[in-house]
Amino acid sequence: MPLFLEKQARWWLLPVRLLLCLIVVTLCISGWYSWSVQASRLPDRIPMTGNTTGNTVDSMTGHTMQHQQGQQNDVSVTDLVGPQSGEPNERFTLVAQEAQMRLRSGATVNAWTFNGQLPGPELRVHQGDLVEVKLINRLSRAGVTLHWHGLDVPNGEDGVAGVTQNAVQPGESFTYRFVVKNHAGTYWYHSHQDSLEAVGKGLFGPLIVLPPRDSFAGKDIPILAHSWLTKERGSQEAFGITDTMQRLTVQPGTPVRLRLINTDSLPVSFVLSGTPFKVIAIDGTDLNAPTDLTRQRLLVAAGGRYDIQFTMPGTAVSLDWTNKKSSKVRFLLSQDATASAPALADGPVFNPATYGSRQKTPFGLSSHFDKEFTLILDDMIGFYDGKMESLWPINGKVFPNTPMLMVHEGDLVKVSFVNRSWMDHPMHLHGHHMLVLSYNGRPVTGSPWWVDTLNVAPGESYDVAFRADNPGIWMDHCHNLDHAAAGMILHLGYEGVSSPFEVGHDTINQPE
Ligand code: C2O
Ligand code: CU
Repeated sequence: MPLFLEKQARWWLLPVRLLLCLIVVTLCISGWYSWSVQASRLPDRIPMTGNTTGNTVDSMTGHTMQHQQGQQNDVSVTDLVGPQSGEPNERFTLVAQEAQMRLRSGATVNAWTFNGQLPGPELRVHQGDLVEVKLINRLSRAGVTLHWHGLDVPNGEDGVAGVTQNAVQPGESFTYRFVVKNHAGTYWYHSHQDSLEAVGKGLFGPLIVLPPRDSFAGKDIPILAHSWLTKERGSQEAFGITDTMQRLTVQPGTPVRLRLINTDSLPVSFVLSGTPFKVIAIDGTDLNAPTDLTRQRLLVAAGGRYDIQFTMPGTAVSLDWTNKKSSKVRFLLSQDATASAPALADGPVFNPATYGSRQKTPFGLSSHFDKEFTLILDDMIGFYDGKMESLWPINGKVFPNTPMLMVHEGDLVKVSFVNRSWMDHPMHLHGHHMLVLSYNGRPVTGSPWWVDTLNVAPGESYDVAFRADNPGIWMDHCHNLDHAAAGMILHLGYEGVSSPFEVGHDTINQPE
């Protein structure tokens, strides 16, 4: 009898132990989970002024944690503005408003528009112009700003909510004034308040800078590649609102300039078929001595721009978005409305590092750099602001713990990007243009290659350099707006510049 009891007791022991173990493990995991969720919540207020210590070469000062209130001799970003008086050469009004819009296929988009247009109105200005843009927000609930992507405007006109201004609330307005100092070329504008949602829904448009006396007598066509969220079909790729095929009549012999603008969050590959063409500019800067290309795929960074030019032949020319086999997004240029499309001239990806001819640059690989930074881009699964998601840390950190690049005005700054993650990261620096010095350790041998948005693909590395000649506090972030919203942002700060603005849940500012 006792023997039987003992056996029975043992028989029960194992499952009970297992159950206890399971309970303890579950408690541990859920405890760790809720602790992680809590710990990843962003502070309610994050001030934008970085600290002003530790400014040695290679220094990466903490972002905002060691925030020091503006010192006596600090310049505020609100003082770094364009001319406040003087009659502007160009004056625009952009009204943010909700509208139900249709793509060419008939698919509907619940859009946020500027002036009821999708994409927003094309702003054409000339180099040297004083431009005034009045932003009026008539959205029902969201804030708006205007950021001039690629234009090196004074910091206070840069339009980043929580960094250079407060988000403009419904019913409010804000006026931007700046002199166009950039090269003639292709730029764009977009809201920089909750840009993931705002740009996605349509608060963007092309911004074209023309030379003082523009003599181009051909067809000049901005093409904005974007994915729209449609009611009927979910995500739909389009050139502007052309999610199908659009014909354009062009007479043979006409010079054609296509301004390819990627307003999407992933690289867009364009294929031009039916004629040789040249890539004449990247991110608003002309390339030196571009040569004819055929059968090359143009991979444009999210936020980036390529301008291509050709002379219209006697036969049809097509421009295709070739990301997906199923995509039917196409511009077909021909003399009459019956011509059929040429065979797709797809080929290897065009590499700007070896295209065109060398030319003197203000600095290069052998220059002495005042500051050098290395930014390592990684991936990990983690918690961010209470949610578990894919994170894209920079040097192991996500915003607001990412490093702040602190510089003095006049510094020559070198930045090395290394992408160890599995996704592309189009790195965009506000307010400056970066000269690409080397690609995967090899010096750039083609035309000087200036960018404001550089696609760093998985496994790639780049060295770039820029002159710190535009004081302020500038965003430097991935233009895959999902990544930016998950903290893939840092800032370039100038010593002695402070910002009175803040981001965070307790503020009206959420730039990404
Ligand atoms: Cu196109 Cu931070 O922006
Ligand atoms: Cu990214």
